[in-house]
Amino acid sequence: MRIIEVESYEKLSALAADIIAGQVLLKPDCVLGLATGSSPLGTYANLVKRYEGGLLDFSRVRTVNLDEYCGLKGNDPQSYRYFMDKNLFDRVNVDKESTHLPDGSAPDMEAECSRYEALVESLGWPDLQLLGIGHNGHIGFNEPEDVFHAAVHTVKLTESTIKANSRLFDKPEDVPTSAITMGVGAIMKAKRVLLIAGADKAEIVERAFQGPVTPRVPASVLQLHKDATVILSKA
Ligand code: F6R
Repeated sequence: MRIIEVESYEKLSALAADIIAGQVLLKPDCVLGLATGSSPLGTYANLVKRYEGGLLDFSRVRTVNLDEYCGLKGNDPQSYRYFMDKNLFDRVNVDKESTHLPDGSAPDMEAECSRYEALVESLGWPDLQLLGIGHNGHIGFNEPEDVFHAAVHTVKLTESTIKANSRLFDKPEDVPTSAITMGVGAIMKAKRVLLIAGADKAEIVERAFQGPVTPRVPASVLQLHKDATVILSKA
């Protein structure tokens, strides 16, 4: 595991975009595993800038996102599908048909978990998986538990995650309390993983990557990944 410390969020975002751009240049039809949240916003803005400058072509790229809230349709402004369209997919030349997220509004969530797992497997697992980290150590929405879940599953979000997410909703009661997420299996099967974290995550980053591997700190499993990079910003 490589841990790279940089001075600022701007540098973190530029470096993460360099790594993703390198992946796309080397394998134009690669499978990018993507994340939502505040952390990757600067990375996506950097990728858009490179596309606009003619430096990157997303036309053959396939994408799989980690997670989606349960109960939200893709056109809901709070959904992760909406977030991805707005911040990346609608701003580059990716084929929208090749962009995939779990469907949080599926009538049968168990069937949706199986469908999404099979889909990610059929794409050959991500070539590069981008991750953020929750203050409690979650990756995707793999929350602290007694066991690691390998496959796509639904999860009841913890109070701390609901609270963290409430900053993006008008009313606390609107914050979804459950989500569908890739399990640690797909994350570990990604050929490379890239986790980005701001200075506010320094403490959990230390617990996750310098402490024991435990499902109580789900990101700690990345210590066992053969090609994991963490970029941590000091400010
Ligand atoms: C979102 C996701 C989450 C976030 C994490 C950090 O797709 O997978 O694990 O990466 O909650 O969120 P931010 O970046 O908003 O601090």
